[in-house]
Amino acid sequence: MEKIAKGQETELYVDKLAFGGMAVARVDGFVFFLDRAVPGQIVRARITKKKKNYAEARVLEVVSESPHQVKAPCPHFGICGGCHWQDISYPVQLHWKKSHVLESLGHIAGIGEAEVLPIIASPEPFRYRNKMEFTFSARRWLSPEEFSREEPPPAESLFALGLHVRGLFDKVFTIDSCCLQSETANAILRDVRDWARNSGLPAYTIRSHEGFWRFLVIREARRTGEMLVHLITSGTPKADSAVEDLGARLGSLYPQITTLVHSISDKKSQVAAGDSSRVLFGTGRIEERLGDLRFRISSHSFFQTNSLGAEMLYDTVAELGEFDGSEKVWDLYCGTGSIGIYIASRVKEVFGIELIEDAVEDARENCRINSIRNCSFLAGDLKDVIREASQEGRPDVVITDPPRAGMHPKVVKTLLEVAPRKIIAVSCNPASLARDAALLTEAYEIGAVQPFDLFPHTPHLECVVRFDRKE
Ligand SMILES: C[S@@+](CC[C@H](N)C(=O)[O-])C[C@H]1O[C@@H](n2cnc3c(N)ncnc32)[C@H](O)[C@@H]1O
Repeated sequence: MEKIAKGQETELYVDKLAFGGMAVARVDGFVFFLDRAVPGQIVRARITKKKKNYAEARVLEVVSESPHQVKAPCPHFGICGGCHWQDISYPVQLHWKKSHVLESLGHIAGIGEAEVLPIIASPEPFRYRNKMEFTFSARRWLSPEEFSREEPPPAESLFALGLHVRGLFDKVFTIDSCCLQSETANAILRDVRDWARNSGLPAYTIRSHEGFWRFLVIREARRTGEMLVHLITSGTPKADSAVEDLGARLGSLYPQITTLVHSISDKKSQVAAGDSSRVLFGTGRIEERLGDLRFRISSHSFFQTNSLGAEMLYDTVAELGEFDGSEKVWDLYCGTGSIGIYIASRVKEVFGIELIEDAVEDARENCRINSIRNCSFLAGDLKDVIREASQEGRPDVVITDPPRAGMHPKVVKTLLEVAPRKIIAVSCNPASLARDAALLTEAYEIGAVQPFDLFPHTPHLECVVRFDRKE
């Protein structure tokens, strides 16, 4: 290959999607990462970064179309940081997600021979999310055309409620409609934006850490239709009445909103959570159904965002467990207890451990409303409490579902000592899953690898791996 340098233009054939979302082209083994490209395209691109083993390039023009390209249905596609792959046909997205699991297990864990089952697609490719978080901004992102106009946009038009611009985490653009949530949720989003803009109270700005409106979170239970609206603002007592007025308006316009929560956050970090919360109406929780079980979800608790996909995921955990009713099961990183509760009728007992106290309260409540009596839970950081928990008795099967970073090494070490017959690892990050797998395969062999697509049009994927203790 001829020598390449930053700023140079080159024609590339795009041959794959990489883990994390970028497209990849290769010339004589040298790798080019492209932000917006579809496998099968030939593109003209400009090199933006050149390293020893790879380069990054920006697509300037599509020279030849790809058969895998489709028209993205979302008007915000390309700008929005949410969906990176809406212009790639769904079967092709699935193909590459499955290959990312194989690659991670091969490269990171050295388990290249693992058999990966065909990926299970999301039951719905659009409107599958039961939770969306939107950010307010006092200085919305301006499109290049708006930016180049001589007349600056009127100040009131700079108020935004939306999502982050692709690659620009401090810039928010206004969203009218998101095709990952329902039309009702979209109407609520537009109403909240218009009402807040006219409220006379400013949106929060991360530059000066001033302003009032911070985040809007909409949760919608897929099976019951119940909706929870969560408004997060900075703490200005005299402005509380603004939220109450907005809440009353939303309550009268949308009977689907069964509860509305207002949280105050004066933290500088941009996290849609509050230091204190008050419920303006309803119980502060909505109810979702998975299988024939009921789950209460509060404003701050974790719940799988694709409800119909979560059912398939939990069914798979139940199948891979091959339970006969005699098992003591640990449900680690259990959140609101949903996996443990889902399998509770098939096992002797479930013991769940979770960091967030409120989630554990929800887990206990979820047992109560489902008349489940064989589950117990402990709140605590797993790395600190797992050893002591293991003194109380050993599990036959352990289910783990850690956050993106994976399990803490101390947790993996204790699992190896406790030596359950099976470990069923649920993960939303194939890289950390592979790292944990590399440690577990000292004493376990991989029984099954089942990837799921719970997040169509994004590079994210979920995976369940069953580890069987070597005899
Ligand atoms: C991916 S969620 C899984 C939740 C649950 N299994 C489900 O399906 O709904 C990960 C959970 O791990 C919890 N968590 C994070 N760090 C933890 C830690 N160090 N110790 C215990 N739990 C933790 C989070 O609060 C979150 O509820």
